[in-house]
Amino acid sequence: MPDAHILGIESSCDETGAAVVRSGQQILSNVVASQIATHQPYGGVVPELASREHLRAIVPVVRRALSEAGQTYESVDAIAVTQGPGLAGALLVGISFAKALAFALEKPLIAVNHLEGHIHAVLLEQRQSGNAELQFPALALVVSGGHTHLYLAQVRENLWTYRNIGHTRDDAAGEAFDKVAKLLGLGYPGGPIIDRLAPHGDPQAVKFQIAQIKHPDRRDHKQSERVSADEGPHFDFSYSGIKTAVLRYVETQNLKPAIEARRQALAGVDKPTLEDIRGLCDRQILNLVASFQRSMVNDLAMKTLAAAREYDVRTLFVSGGVAANRELRATFEREAGMQGLPVLFPSRALSTDNAAMIAAAAFPKFLRGEFVAMDFCAEAGMALR
Ligand code: KG4
Ligand code: ZN
Repeated sequence: MPDAHILGIESSCDETGAAVVRSGQQILSNVVASQIATHQPYGGVVPELASREHLRAIVPVVRRALSEAGQTYESVDAIAVTQGPGLAGALLVGISFAKALAFALEKPLIAVNHLEGHIHAVLLEQRQSGNAELQFPALALVVSGGHTHLYLAQVRENLWTYRNIGHTRDDAAGEAFDKVAKLLGLGYPGGPIIDRLAPHGDPQAVKFQIAQIKHPDRRDHKQSERVSADEGPHFDFSYSGIKTAVLRYVETQNLKPAIEARRQALAGVDKPTLEDIRGLCDRQILNLVASFQRSMVNDLAMKTLAAAREYDVRTLFVSGGVAANRELRATFEREAGMQGLPVLFPSRALSTDNAAMIAAAAFPKFLRGEFVAMDFCAEAGMALR
């Protein structure tokens, strides 16, 4: 099989990414321009600002990815771009740029689902480290700012297919981390901050109950939540309740004045470090953060492993921004290990949004000649199948 160098472009949310990956197995470059500083003052991603930042960043990011890879516009074999899901205006920037490049250079254009990209981040790094033989069926948990989705993944002759067997009914796990951090005046994005603060608190201090979604057909499938004859059991998540529980705790414990003081203090610090944030947290807040994270991680692990048992999978992938969480990794490794189930993560850098995963997911499509026409559109709500 000849080598193929694919230029991947990612612009679905708040990171502008470009990468060159060789044959779905070797990262030659992976450039990410983060917009954290732009969105930080608003405590979340502002879609209009995201589009403008992508416009500003896309040309230099792509140029850098090519030069770091020792490639040129002419030398790459194909251009891959995220089609969705994501913010429509943000997706459009990457797609328009990829279309223009493909048209001008007469290169094939490949459209990639962002969620498939997260799954292929795992596969790419496994191949890169020489582990080509993965066992199927595989279960993939994609856990990010916009998704908490479980997919059964299969591959036949380079055709990857995915079956969704669970998703969040309301907030995604990353969204819950971000909202809770905002609520506690800890800053943005919340996931990495909570991850680093949690080890300083007592995870048993506050008891949270996470919704266990039940289904009338539960008696037929002990651990399942949603069942239909042709679909099989579903394992759904729900994280808006825990956010409300944190808010209730804040109110009953009268934490608002301290939170407001912290918010104001952090607003006055340019690029606050973890030490800055930690210095503004008392024991009660650290305990609350640790307890919140423990509940989230345990719920994600418990439901995912129940699904893995029900579907008798051979391998588990955990990917997406929240997969960078240290406690989540340790918990999945411990619990999956007890079930004798191999669990694979991307490196922490490839867990969050990047374009290497898009270029990697495009490679099997390249081999199959699955190219898109110039009139293909962004799909903000794109499903993975
Ligand atoms: O995959 P990603 O970069 O973008 C989306 O596709 O959404 O995920 C971003 C999400 C954010 O909600 C962020 O707070 C969360 O992933 N995240 C984390 C960590 N790093 C990023 N959550 C928990 N612990 C982390 N270390
Ligand atoms: Zn993502």
